[in-house]
Amino acid sequence: MAPDIAAYLQQHESKGLLRFITCGSVDDGKSTLIGRLLHDTQLLLDDQVAALEADSRRHGTQGGELDFALLVDGLAAEREQGITIDVAYRFFGTERRKFIVADCPGHEQYTRNMATGASTADLAVVLVDARKGLLTQTRRHSYIASLLGIRHVLLAVNKMDLVDYRQDVFDSIVAGYRDLATQLGIANVQAIPLSALRGDNMVDGSAAMPWYRGPSLLQHLETVQVEPATQATGFRLPVQWVNRPNQDFRGFAGTVAGGRVAVGDEVVVLPSARRSTVARIVTAGGDLAHAGDGQAVTLTLADEVDASRGDVIAAAIDPPEVADQFAAHLLWMGDERLLPGRPYLLKLGTRTVGASVTEIKHKVDVNTQEHLAAKHLELNEVACCNLHLDQPLAFEPYARNRALGAFILIDRQSNATVAAGTLDFALRRAGNIHWQHLDVDKAARARIKHQSPRCLWFTGLSGAGKSTIANLVEKRLLAMGQHTYLLDGDNVRHGLNKDLGFTDEDRVENIRRVAEVAKLMTDAGLIVLVSFISPFRAEREMARALFEPGEFLEVFVDTPLAVAEQRDVKGLYAKARAGQLRNFTGIDSPYEAPEHPELHLHADRASPVELAGEVIRALLPD
Ligand code: ADX
Repeated sequence: MAPDIAAYLQQHESKGLLRFITCGSVDDGKSTLIGRLLHDTQLLLDDQVAALEADSRRHGTQGGELDFALLVDGLAAEREQGITIDVAYRFFGTERRKFIVADCPGHEQYTRNMATGASTADLAVVLVDARKGLLTQTRRHSYIASLLGIRHVLLAVNKMDLVDYRQDVFDSIVAGYRDLATQLGIANVQAIPLSALRGDNMVDGSAAMPWYRGPSLLQHLETVQVEPATQATGFRLPVQWVNRPNQDFRGFAGTVAGGRVAVGDEVVVLPSARRSTVARIVTAGGDLAHAGDGQAVTLTLADEVDASRGDVIAAAIDPPEVADQFAAHLLWMGDERLLPGRPYLLKLGTRTVGASVTEIKHKVDVNTQEHLAAKHLELNEVACCNLHLDQPLAFEPYARNRALGAFILIDRQSNATVAAGTLDFALRRAGNIHWQHLDVDKAARARIKHQSPRCLWFTGLSGAGKSTIANLVEKRLLAMGQHTYLLDGDNVRHGLNKDLGFTDEDRVENIRRVAEVAKLMTDAGLIVLVSFISPFRAEREMARALFEPGEFLEVFVDTPLAVAEQRDVKGLYAKARAGQLRNFTGIDSPYEAPEHPELHLHADRASPVELAGEVIRALLPD
């Protein structure tokens, strides 16, 4: 299959290419539309048509006529079995143009596929059932299409045969859609009344709708003029890998994501900002004098400049910006909610860095475009957010360059893609805040105390015994002349964190702040004891990542829920069971036990004094 596609694309190389997506709700007739298009442009093989005729007689829903949905759904089934390489993207061509169509499933849970398809498309075919008009799904898909920079919509008002081909039905749907398109900034909308099933206005005009004088679906797809997705920029090459077969050759391989490059051009490697000039442009087919957008090349540089995967090599006279804080749009696709402050991975181009959402500025109601306040995001919600990255990276606003402005967020635990997003601009504050060099450092502060700074992180259910044990440990350390501080959840919540409650988002922020404080205290040279329920793995991992290797010890104070509940020193379990206290850990809020704690204390089997001894021995082995 793969060589076929390559050969096919080559054969059609001289023609223009249009990439488009089809989107619509379930049952709007998307499969029929694509099937009909392939059939009427004679792109189906004879045996496919024969099979379709047989299937239509046997399983068809169209009374003996060809049921195109069977054809496309059949291809989908092949895809699931892995027979065909990538039929989610279909390739076809006519005399005038070649096409790549990304077929996006209509179900709401497939919005993520739609975002993937849309990020490379020039045009979206938005299908509407003439009987139903504009649906939430129509609005959602149009919103995502506009977010991802699609400026052309073909509004396919389908099933016109079921509304007696009435012009007034068509006109009122089109008027509604034009309002939506104006709100979304989609400048080019071509509306076409059609019946994919009967072939009206699919390839040729329709005798049933003499009132419509515009192009057919195929005519529009063949002739619509689309501007390039990337605006003219200087040269950009995100480095995909460094090719170093021997001492004499070091090449930086990747696909050009904007602009042109020629041998001898001055370039800059970002984010390090080292400069050099292009020595060679190497490809499988030999060296080139220059290369442009979309070409896969390997560059060698005149100087011994280091660049690694994820760096961007760019034109020195017109480089992209480098930043670590952004305003961005996000489409949340995770089954679990997005929580501000929670650490995720962000992948942009070839680079992956740690990232978190520092603030949800608003979410967007896709039906009305209204801005709504939000503390978290649920599946399929869209929002405008501020992002913070652990490291700066080279980027461009998405509106300028799709390749350097589109990103995904990845869950650190499950590795699932949980969001697709577009960078709007860098926050100015990021560029104005620098690291100050301080002469007295952690090592000096620790030396004068004759100790090694540590963070002992106690986690466990409320009433598990964290504070009791941490308290005993601190007393023992003090007696040994160590400098310590104990950060206790209950106490910190009376001061620094008195604005926080017990929702998931507040607990994330609670832990984020205390982890930062603990880090400052170890930087001051102290042994810090943190005693917080800290129920979520993600935030404990975030805390761990703030410290140097070996500095952070996670102490799991493991008391079964039944035991903690039976002790109920503060009477909170009784209240939670009685429904007077919501979001109580272990009752109606989860506790995610550590998987690999440095120390696992079975707090129902030994006394606090014995357990404190265990902690001391782990901390100070000699
Ligand atoms: S954490 O989950 O955000 O880490 P933290 O350790 O700061 O919690 O605070 C937990 C303490 O707050 C408990 O020991 C308990 O005394 C009190 N508390 C009040 N409401 C709740 C609740 N809904 N869930 C858990 N603890 C609560």
